[in-house]
Amino acid sequence: MTHSHTGRTGPVGSVYDSGPTSVQNPLPTASPVETAKILAEVELPTISKGPIIRRPRMVAAVENLGLEARAVTRMQTIAEKYGRGPIMLALPGRKMSMVLDPDHVHRILEESPEPFATAETLKRHALKHFEPQVALISHGPERARRREVNEQLLDHNHPIHRMAQQFMPAVREEAQALLEQVDTAGGSLDYSTYFKAWFRLVNRVVLGDSYRDDEQLIELMETQRARGNWAFFRPVDTDARDEIHARIDQAVSRAEPGSIAAFMNEMGTSANSETSREEDVQQIPQWLFAFDPAGMASYRGLALLASHQDRLDAARFQVDEEAQADTPMLPLLRATVLESLRLWATTPMILRETTREVEFEHGVMPEGTTVLIFAPFFHRDEKNLDFAHRFSPEVWDHERTRDEWPLVPFSAGPGLCPGRHLVLLLTSNFIAQIVGQRSIDLLSHDLEPGRLPALLNNFSLKFHLSQR
Ligand code: HEM
Repeated sequence: MTHSHTGRTGPVGSVYDSGPTSVQNPLPTASPVETAKILAEVELPTISKGPIIRRPRMVAAVENLGLEARAVTRMQTIAEKYGRGPIMLALPGRKMSMVLDPDHVHRILEESPEPFATAETLKRHALKHFEPQVALISHGPERARRREVNEQLLDHNHPIHRMAQQFMPAVREEAQALLEQVDTAGGSLDYSTYFKAWFRLVNRVVLGDSYRDDEQLIELMETQRARGNWAFFRPVDTDARDEIHARIDQAVSRAEPGSIAAFMNEMGTSANSETSREEDVQQIPQWLFAFDPAGMASYRGLALLASHQDRLDAARFQVDEEAQADTPMLPLLRATVLESLRLWATTPMILRETTREVEFEHGVMPEGTTVLIFAPFFHRDEKNLDFAHRFSPEVWDHERTRDEWPLVPFSAGPGLCPGRHLVLLLTSNFIAQIVGQRSIDLLSHDLEPGRLPALLNNFSLKFHLSQR
């Protein structure tokens, strides 16, 4: 399905080396009152929920108060007034802009990391607590080599990771163990149980089978991520950070068969002959961190399926069809996870920072400006998308292009998430075991198919599973 960018189209601006400066031709700036409203209604809820690790109580509060929908409405009001933007916020001492136009989303993501660096200041301060050398907050040649390591190890462009066959027994065993646990609990499934099972799988795939029950590493990561939520307001706990890296380094040395840690070890310096072992190891905390939203997205995917019987039937049909495959592709379950991420983006704010002045149609953005793409504004824009609030897996039946409306749960362009296919492979196969073997009822929420909520609190979602 394709959608024109109704109402907000136009040629993408070009960059001139010798055009007017941001002083001569500034971008429109939101008034102080509008800026305050954007900060309070768009940024504050996202920051309160926890950008690096979610705070369950704040997620519940944002859900109950309907703040997520208000954020999108605020952005729509701003876009109605300012048109294509981008707009600068009236912040003393900080250059920050909001993206309002779908073409600009594509442009900014395509033109990363120059002039739109992924290593944006706030993000750098948040992530330095546990992964100071990760590709996402690196720039220049360093970023290029670290990105390359991620692409190699995560098999970036392949829907089926080259090690997929080795991951499948762990997927089936951990899903089976989860189902047995749920049966023992009389059929009830809550997020904490799901999350633990999911991370037993993640630990096995990333680090090796003997790490299955290593909750200490998960806890260490969680503590550092909680510090990351406070970015530069908290000092870095270098001992805890070193401990994380030492544990991961040890897993790489152990090189347990079937793990990506072993793959890293095997590739040695061939993943990228210019990176050091330390740099390679430093990419892995990002994976452990990012498998957390994958757990949320797949769990919310179960809620979507439980409330859309026809989709569930179709997904089950595919599960049965591919039951004998070594590495099932499961397009409908992959699309379910993608839809879960479109509807309830786990990276709602994609941040970039300009490395020089950049010209747009309506003015020049200064160097050093934080550029904020608020994904829900584009993903849930009912003015331009007829499927904005519906579960529409068909939207993902082809690779989305930049001629289409931006749906960017995994970002796009040169900063596109290199783990996306691995996430979809593991989540789809994990939930396939659940929906393939059990009937599933959503107990905690009543999802209205025509009007899905702006936020779905994964922590409070509860299901009842029974034998089919
Ligand atoms: C549902 C789960 C996930 C989602 C929604 C997601 C989404 C994203 C997004 C939006 C970005 C761009 C962030 C930015 O530009 O600021 C990103 C980057 C990245 N993701 Fe993921 N991700 C997920 C899981 C994973 C996993 C499991 C891995 C690794 C196994 C991974 C590896 C990475 C890496 C290495 C980057 C940095 C890429 C770069 O800077 O070039 N992600 N991801």
